[in-house]
Amino acid sequence: MGFLNIKNATKAYGDVEVLHNIDISVEEGEFLVLVGPSGCGKSTLLNMIAGLEEISSGEISIKGKTMNGVHPSKRNIAMVFQSYALYPNMSVAKNITFGLEMHNVEKSVCKAALADVAKLLQIEPLLDRRPGQLSGGQRQRVAMGRALVRNPDVFLFDEPLSNLDAKLRVDMRTEIKRLHEKLKTTMVYVTHDQIEAMTLSTRIAVMFEGYVQQLGTPKQIYDTPSNLYVATFMGSPSMNLLPVDVMDGADGSQFELRIGDQVTKTVQLNGQRLPAGRYTLGLRPEHITDPESADLESGKYLMIESVVEVVEPAGADTFVTTKLQDIAVNTRMRGDIEVATGEVTEFALDLRRLHFFDPKTELRVELEAVGS
Ligand SMILES: Nc1ncnc2c1ncn2[C@@H]1O[C@H](COP(=O)(O)OP(=O)(O)O)[C@@H](O)[C@H]1O
Ligand SMILES: [Mg+2]
Repeated sequence: MGFLNIKNATKAYGDVEVLHNIDISVEEGEFLVLVGPSGCGKSTLLNMIAGLEEISSGEISIKGKTMNGVHPSKRNIAMVFQSYALYPNMSVAKNITFGLEMHNVEKSVCKAALADVAKLLQIEPLLDRRPGQLSGGQRQRVAMGRALVRNPDVFLFDEPLSNLDAKLRVDMRTEIKRLHEKLKTTMVYVTHDQIEAMTLSTRIAVMFEGYVQQLGTPKQIYDTPSNLYVATFMGSPSMNLLPVDVMDGADGSQFELRIGDQVTKTVQLNGQRLPAGRYTLGLRPEHITDPESADLESGKYLMIESVVEVVEPAGADTFVTTKLQDIAVNTRMRGDIEVATGEVTEFALDLRRLHFFDPKTELRVELEAVGS
């Protein structure tokens, strides 16, 4: 049993079930990120953990004690919202300690806790200001300070960085990560941003339409997505998807790959097999690259020559579009590559990083070693 346990939890508004049979067990000190598009049920699940929404069926427990029916103020959790929800007429210091004072915590204890948190978040010079006199990033820090000062069992964050501009968002992301590494408090963090999910979490729950599609470490989610939804949601640019017809070959399975308009190459999966049939092949852009960026000595690459259709320089990388299986495919090349639209160039396709999905069920299909 985890530190925070969500067992077969559902949520319905009237006749409409918006969360279905959620099972997540979070260990003490974990940083769990709930990620998914708008409307998939992330906030509802977080609010159920907080006690702000009732749970329709199932159970949520913290430290082995059921939280069903327990008032939010009795759960020893702290929540940080996107909207900060600071009291405009109180000073920063008062905003941070107000919750403690409401819980009749002694003045001297409040003062010491405030000093600790202000130091941790580097907001000491701001303590006498009002929220209206702060920038967005500073307000976000105060909102975090208010949560931190309570020393909760679990921190809940609902898209805390969404109102910040891009640069500040990245800075605050690093700070939240540092904070977690320092405090080691259990955190559950909601975001629609897959990069935030990858960079912050110890584990990710990818949600879609009220279901947890996959629960795993960032590496598991990225390297072995359990279905097409997870495969295309996580990663930017998105994984390329191509229809392929897999056949049996002498040393394993094989399939034909059409390159541009003219050429077809046979891709041999040496030593590995799949039942023959139609699959959706998934290729991440970074696994189709220029030869210099590939580890060619491994001998695990398919070299192809194909026409460049679009070139998108992005600083550290250059994204190059070409055509495979009659579909525009995004590839990632090094930043200083010199290629032009219409030119034929060489691509190295990493055969160790092919993903296969059943086109009907959309589920991942694992290759098997030949002979097993
Ligand atoms: N109070 C409510 N009454 C009815 N439906 C709601 C209510 N709150 C949320 N929903 C619905 O529940 C689903 C999940 O919403 P939400 O948890 O806010 O999603 P997310 O946070 O992932 O964007 C949505 O379809 C939303 O319309
Ligand atoms: Mg939400």
